[in-house]
Amino acid sequence: MAATSGTGIDAYFVPAAHTLPSNAAYLAHLAAASADPTLVRLASNENTEPASPRVRAALEAAYLDANLSPPPISPLHVELARRHGVETSRLLVTAGSTELIEAVFRTFARAGSEVVIPAPSWPFYRRRLDALEARAIEVPLRRDADGFRYEVDDLLDAITPETRLVVVCSPNNPSGNVMEPADIHRLADTGIPFLLDAAYADFDPTHDPMPLVHEYDNVIVTRTFSKAYCLAGVRVGYGIGSAEVIDHVDRFLVPGGSIGNPALHAGLAALEDEAYHDHQVARITEERERLLPRLRKLGLAAYPSHGNFVAVDCAGRAGGAEGLAAAVLAEGVVIRPLGTLVRISIGRSEENDALVEALARALVA
Ligand SMILES: Cc1ncc(COP(=O)(O)O)c(C=O)c1O
Repeated sequence: MAATSGTGIDAYFVPAAHTLPSNAAYLAHLAAASADPTLVRLASNENTEPASPRVRAALEAAYLDANLSPPPISPLHVELARRHGVETSRLLVTAGSTELIEAVFRTFARAGSEVVIPAPSWPFYRRRLDALEARAIEVPLRRDADGFRYEVDDLLDAITPETRLVVVCSPNNPSGNVMEPADIHRLADTGIPFLLDAAYADFDPTHDPMPLVHEYDNVIVTRTFSKAYCLAGVRVGYGIGSAEVIDHVDRFLVPGGSIGNPALHAGLAALEDEAYHDHQVARITEERERLLPRLRKLGLAAYPSHGNFVAVDCAGRAGGAEGLAAAVLAEGVVIRPLGTLVRISIGRSEENDALVEALARALVA
């Protein structure tokens, strides 16, 4: 039912409520994929392989403490802190990194606050900043024949005395490019709170974001188990920052209302199976490099990527990204239109083959 049902209640909604697109529209690609299990789902940057067998065992055992509230500091917290060489007070584990990123926004931004974000990037940032009625200052990435790239001076130029937070996604979703460490340092050196969303960092071992957390008090790095660890459905993410920042971000999370015991156990089991993680990264990287030339051979402008996805530029193509995604959906594969790009997640070998065949059919139709 529409929010404006004539009861007069709409006058009470905060202004953003009238303009925000619905979650149903935002997640239409997920609805399409889950409604029909025969579709090949390459729209959500999930891992289409199941998680490590150790995760299965952990989830079965999770029945045993399903009745108990999760501990504030779990064995997963302790293990992550150990691996990253920080105290547990510098780390938050949440129901996906989405939840943590949102809490970071609410820690630093209010209605009217300026937050610098890249464009194109993960649409979630803009969406959640709009919900807060914050001012998203979108800084366009530079673009050339090789794809997109960050120009750090453009981001630095966008910073004003009103800037409360700078967000960088590296590798960037959906464009696939990374920000080089020297540029990241220049942004961090401003002293302004700086969120580095490293959701796809597993797929680019040459750009390790974690040293930053030992160098800066104003940097928060977020990571996820949804990609290389195959746990998108379980919801596990984490972030590391200074103890002071983490303490404040924590105040914006619902106490005890985030990640549950099954997810904590699954996350720990996934983390401990390093061989499985490394196999997933190698498999996806190899598949990505196998897919790119095949997309180009079809005449598509497919950009290089450091993530578990590739972007295809549809600017100038009849029907644009929406048209291409719809045509491919009609051929049985779900991919995601994002502005003038379509983003294709890397699946299993046979799924990627099915995508290439679907594209070939869609392009001649
Ligand atoms: C850039 C980026 N950050 C964060 C996430 C969040 O992942 P999750 O909430 O599953 O940890 C995603 C998911 O697609 C993403 O693309």
